[in-house]
Amino acid sequence: MKNITFYNDVSMPIIGLGVFRIDKNQMNQAISSAYDIGYRHFDTAQMYGNEIELGFALKELKVNRADYLITTKIDNVNQGYESTLKAFQQSLKDLQTDYIDQLLIHWPGQDPKRTLETWKAFGKIYDEGLARVIGVSNFTIRHLQILDYSNIKPMSNQIERNLLQNENDIMPYLKAQNIIPIAWSPLGRGNIHFPFIEELAEKYNKTAAQIVLRWNIDSDVMIIPKSIHAERQAENFDLFAFELNQDEIEQINKLHTGERISFDPETYDF
Ligand SMILES: NC(=O)c1ccc[n+]([C@@H]2O[C@H](COP(=O)([O-])OP(=O)(O)OC[C@H]3O[C@@H](n4cnc5c(N)ncnc54)[C@H](OP(=O)(O)O)[C@@H]3O)[C@@H](O)[C@H]2O)c1
Repeated sequence: MKNITFYNDVSMPIIGLGVFRIDKNQMNQAISSAYDIGYRHFDTAQMYGNEIELGFALKELKVNRADYLITTKIDNVNQGYESTLKAFQQSLKDLQTDYIDQLLIHWPGQDPKRTLETWKAFGKIYDEGLARVIGVSNFTIRHLQILDYSNIKPMSNQIERNLLQNENDIMPYLKAQNIIPIAWSPLGRGNIHFPFIEELAEKYNKTAAQIVLRWNIDSDVMIIPKSIHAERQAENFDLFAFELNQDEIEQINKLHTGERISFDPETYDF
């Protein structure tokens, strides 16, 4: 497994498991099979309404807390200084843990003052050692610049990144700022069957999903594909026996149309 190291020297595996829309009937099985396959990082959010289920499933593994990593995200309704601190405590309780490996602001919205208040709470949580990595999600360059004058820079930015939405503009900026990009919906929720991807799948004797996920890895982007099925979890984890060349990476980049699965962070507000 390849690891990615944040600017504060904390490392995480480049592949994690997304748990959006994994409900309580599926969680234990999904987490247990993923852990057996080798997944050690699990990505949830207050907004997904399944932190309690994830916390329970992780406890059921009966391994040490240091043997797995949890990312969660502060929900939009909980932004602000005091409300972030309070919501964070609730996440710790729901996830049955006394620290979070990576804590993110889920969406930026359009109120810079609120963003700064929330980020101030993140600084306190980080200084107290309650989150090992702090970052953001769905931030554009403009949103990231709001944090330019705060004491601590975000370590990661989790953004929609898949074949149709590959955020080409923000990537060089993140690299220059030493902010690790993390791709959400890396499989475009299954929208991966494009002729060029199928061509590469045949060339490398891999599946379309493996080509798309490998494209992120070859661009040094962390991925958190979601699957409740052990076979697909294994497929999405088995990405290291081949490598795409630069020309193939660039051709895949060109599949970008700008189509989005979710809100446009430039305009989305709450
Ligand atoms: N920060 C944010 O705003 C944000 C937004 C959305 C998502 N996320 C995070 O990103 C994670 C991943 O995104 P996502 O869940 O939206 O979508 P995704 O990972 O792109 O795709 C998941 C879908 O693809 C299917 N799938 C998984 N592996 C497959 C394979 N090998 N071949 C074919 N189909 C496959 C899954 O079905 P099965 O489960 O039935 O296998 C599921 O329907 C989420 O779970 C969440 O943790 C973050």
